[in-house]
Amino acid sequence: MNINHIKLRLLFSNFWKKRGHKEVPPIPLVPQNDPTTLFTGSGMQQLVPNLLGEIHPLGKKLYNIQRCIRAQDIEEVGDNRHDTFFEMMGNWSLGDYFKKEQLTWCWEFLTQELKLSKERLYVTVFWGTKDIPADEESFQIWRKIGLPENRILRYDTKTNWWSRAGLPENMPAGEPGGRTSEIFYEFTQIIHNPKYGKTCHPNCSCGRFIEIGNSVFMEYKKNSEGTLSELPAKDVDFGGGLERITMALENQNDLFLTNVFTKTVSTVEKITKKKYLDFKKPIRIISDHIKTSVFLIKEGVTPSNKEQGYILRRLLRKTSFNLHKIGVDLKQALPLEEIVESVIDTYGNIYFNKEKDLKMIVPIIKEEMDKFGKALSRGIKEIEKTEEKDLENKAFYFYQSYGLPLEFLEEIFKNLKKKINIQRFREEFNKHKELSRSASVGKFKGGLADHSTQSIKYHTVTHLLHQALFDVLGNNIRQEGSNITSERLRFDFYSTKKPTTDQIKKVESTINGKINHALEVSFKIIHKSDALKIGAKSFFREKYPEMVKIYFINNYSKEFCGGPHVKNTQEIGQIKIFRFEKIGSNLYRIYAK
Ligand code: ALA
Repeated sequence: MNINHIKLRLLFSNFWKKRGHKEVPPIPLVPQNDPTTLFTGSGMQQLVPNLLGEIHPLGKKLYNIQRCIRAQDIEEVGDNRHDTFFEMMGNWSLGDYFKKEQLTWCWEFLTQELKLSKERLYVTVFWGTKDIPADEESFQIWRKIGLPENRILRYDTKTNWWSRAGLPENMPAGEPGGRTSEIFYEFTQIIHNPKYGKTCHPNCSCGRFIEIGNSVFMEYKKNSEGTLSELPAKDVDFGGGLERITMALENQNDLFLTNVFTKTVSTVEKITKKKYLDFKKPIRIISDHIKTSVFLIKEGVTPSNKEQGYILRRLLRKTSFNLHKIGVDLKQALPLEEIVESVIDTYGNIYFNKEKDLKMIVPIIKEEMDKFGKALSRGIKEIEKTEEKDLENKAFYFYQSYGLPLEFLEEIFKNLKKKINIQRFREEFNKHKELSRSASVGKFKGGLADHSTQSIKYHTVTHLLHQALFDVLGNNIRQEGSNITSERLRFDFYSTKKPTTDQIKKVESTINGKINHALEVSFKIIHKSDALKIGAKSFFREKYPEMVKIYFINNYSKEFCGGPHVKNTQEIGQIKIFRFEKIGSNLYRIYAK
């Protein structure tokens, strides 16, 4: 059957709507107001508090299609299936239905709605470790659905456990996770490669099988003692890659030959005058990286040396490098706008406003790639000038200063008949990687720590602070961002006048006064327009659904918020504003703990 990705979205949405699910608006690729993770990496990211027990304004049955980026996969791109941008089709039960309905519906969607051949599908279930029991129930459900035993495979935590941090032992306190049951599609045209093991099976990496859906049964939460305890409700968190399902629908084991990529791949072929079949790897990298860059720029990211901007920069540099590799002269102006256009055309008005977006996105890509082309020529010149005896140790320097990838340097050095001291390069590279890895792990943990008791307290203080700023400074202030760790809270706001030290002291004492009054904290779920009518504070960068959750701190503060919060302000204890600074024109930052 001919189901392209546009049709697939409709079928998916209608399927869950018909079963009483509400659509949760997807969140941006760069999570707003949450500097704790670089990108949105799964559909459940915005629902963590709800999976942990917080009530969701749209109810207990939800679905959406969430755009995601997994930047950790950049180096994997180039094979038949890895990509950095993908969309996850998700459905959730927050303490409503559980395994039986989920697995039955999932199967129904794939085999009846999408008409995938049952003979091509395999499923897996969790088969027990010393701490976590086997999922016999899912096994029996699959048997009842009609799968023969030999299509239900059993695995351990490495493949059939899911949490944002991976294995149970890697989960920080407060993080939810659970056993999973996955569905795989088999490409019978792929012959198993014994390099990956004696026999083939769904989790084998030879490419014969591909995972197209993952039902996570969220039942556990990691405790501060390091053990797992049961969540207040049993939740379902399902995610199926739109691209992976598209591969199955087309029975096409090369992602880049499916309808989410063909327009882009053929445009790259056209403007580079190279054939995909001869240059698969570089053309896959170019197509993937331009697509992800287009999505990032659309959401306001620009190339820089930090965080999201740095990922964008790396994507564009690697694009340039791969263009160079297949013989494109980087000094010549390439019609890059045609590649950008192919991405926009593929996704149509699901994500883009063609004319406006082309105008905004193309110059940013061109400027960055042009700059890199120049850095490249400067780098090559400097390499040529460097004395031979110094050269072999300087590869890492060129890598860092000019952004020249190792593969690229090797090629340049080779042309100059010079050798790179690879071992030295690796040493320096790993030192650097260690540093950035620990920084990003720290970042991830920061995000997850959001659900500790202390962070919940700071969350409530943030609402008090927001209102206190209005009380003391007047109605012209506006929240610009906030960030909470278990050590402190940070709050950014806009104000046309610089607050005085006395005013900041006043804000602090107002908050402590409210804490002492033992105010009750509660929420109501109401229509968005009613919430705006009663003057609930919202964060202007965020998109809210029709029904919203409003948190009230007695009659002192009311604010759009997903929670969680303390029940009474007296749980908080006293707070102190320990830093106040100007961070930009009319922009100020407060730290409190
Ligand atoms: N959250 C689950 C995943 O990302 C469904 O695979």
